[in-house]
Amino acid sequence: MIPLPLARIAQVTGGQLHADPDAVVRGEVAIDSRRVSPGGLFAAVPGERSDGHDFAAAAVAAGATAVLATRPVPVPSVLVADVPDALAALARFVVDALPAVRIAGITGSSGKTSTKDLAAQLVERLGPTIAPAGSYNNEFGHPLTVLRTDASTRYLVLELSARGIGHVAHLCRVAPPRYGVVLNVGHAHAGEFGGLDQVARAKGELVEALPAAGGAAGGVAILNADDPRVLAMASRTAARVVTFSVEDPGAPGPAADVRAADVRLDGLGRPSFTLLTPEGSAPVTLRLHGAHNVPNALAAAALARELGLSLDAIADGLSAAVARSRWRMEVHQRADGVTVINDAYNANPESVRAAIDALAHLAQGGRGFAVLGHMAELGDSSRASHEAIGEFAARVSGSSGSGLAGLIAVGEEAAPLVAGARRVRSWPGEALAVPDGAAALDFLANRLKPGDVVLVKASRAARLEGVAAELLEEADR
Ligand SMILES: Nc1ncnc2c1ncn2[C@@H]1O[C@H](COP(=O)(O)OP(=O)(O)O)[C@@H](O)[C@H]1O
Ligand SMILES: [Mg+2]
Repeated sequence: MIPLPLARIAQVTGGQLHADPDAVVRGEVAIDSRRVSPGGLFAAVPGERSDGHDFAAAAVAAGATAVLATRPVPVPSVLVADVPDALAALARFVVDALPAVRIAGITGSSGKTSTKDLAAQLVERLGPTIAPAGSYNNEFGHPLTVLRTDASTRYLVLELSARGIGHVAHLCRVAPPRYGVVLNVGHAHAGEFGGLDQVARAKGELVEALPAAGGAAGGVAILNADDPRVLAMASRTAARVVTFSVEDPGAPGPAADVRAADVRLDGLGRPSFTLLTPEGSAPVTLRLHGAHNVPNALAAAALARELGLSLDAIADGLSAAVARSRWRMEVHQRADGVTVINDAYNANPESVRAAIDALAHLAQGGRGFAVLGHMAELGDSSRASHEAIGEFAARVSGSSGSGLAGLIAVGEEAAPLVAGARRVRSWPGEALAVPDGAAALDFLANRLKPGDVVLVKASRAARLEGVAAELLEEADR
């Protein structure tokens, strides 16, 4: 963070100062007292098990200049009404004090974290860049990420997620982006939103928040031309619109500024393609798995291009970029020749379809098994959505024509996947519902053979990453 005296922090947050007004915060802002840095600010928040206020003294003993708190603590403090609001105000003050920092926001239903990680790895080639770790983008993670900016920062690459109308608009007030990327409008949290049109309304708040086109600080909206709800957002922004699209040789889509042509997947589902921009074309081979990472890569490329990265550097950077955040399409090969895809970070209808497509591709020549937990927060359409995904899984076939050999639905809410799969009478595979991850592992234990591929995917709440970990350990036994 930029150095700020406590008097200024109290003023910006509307807080009451119980400390030396001239004491200066020079370190990072932390909500975990174990992560307090010397000269930093500790923000006391209630946690799942403990209350940050109980660690106020420990934080100051560890070097914090003061504590941001909502009730009196026995150490130097700024007392505020609400810590997230105070952090948001402080974050806004810091970005306003650093006008040279170029801020980009990325939103969409699926692929935000993956795209943010790709974009950060490109933008870092241009200069010092701050981006959140993983999906650290909630009411605390977002301002805390923004607060890591200092005078040396040139770029801020942010992931903006929403569970309702107004959320993205709020995040855009905390750190107003000049560049806004919208990936897709899908069913993630659609239940809470009340339908796809509402999701589109919410995600589009990003492009509405962008500055108008033109001038030295004109806004740029980077839109997925392959998603009609995203492309339609062009009419909701005063910013300049830049589009990206994956070319479908069978059905040429709208002409986009940044495109991918000749997409191919290698045996492990890693895409190669020709990146086409107005400056020319360059070959890209991603180290990430799954065709769904092609639009993510294009979005990152379009952003980096706007920030001034050359075509060659973009193509190089995309080909060198690694998965920075865990449990998203992690492909592991066991010593016994079984492949495990750990995609257990989260799940919604679009991302499960993308993962099943990747599974079918990887399983060519062997057999594919999908261990799927439930997709959370789909509201009234939950049952029908699970059935539709089950049916999709039973119908999917890899490029060699091989399909899925088994679908294992874990937990009660995921059980309708099985009913969906059984609708496909011609499907020769097995579908069954099991109560928990242990039962799924039992089912697979005496079935898996060399060449088989197992996908593990569910919403965060199902915590299926343990199943993937067990599957990988089994090979070592
Ligand atoms: N463009 C995309 N379209 C569909 N599914 C995707 C896309 N990008 C990623 N996914 C899937 O969504 C999962 C979550 O990806 P992530 O990048 O964490 O998205 P988010 O941050 O939006 O939740 C991935 O594991 C992958 O299965
Ligand atoms: Mg995320």
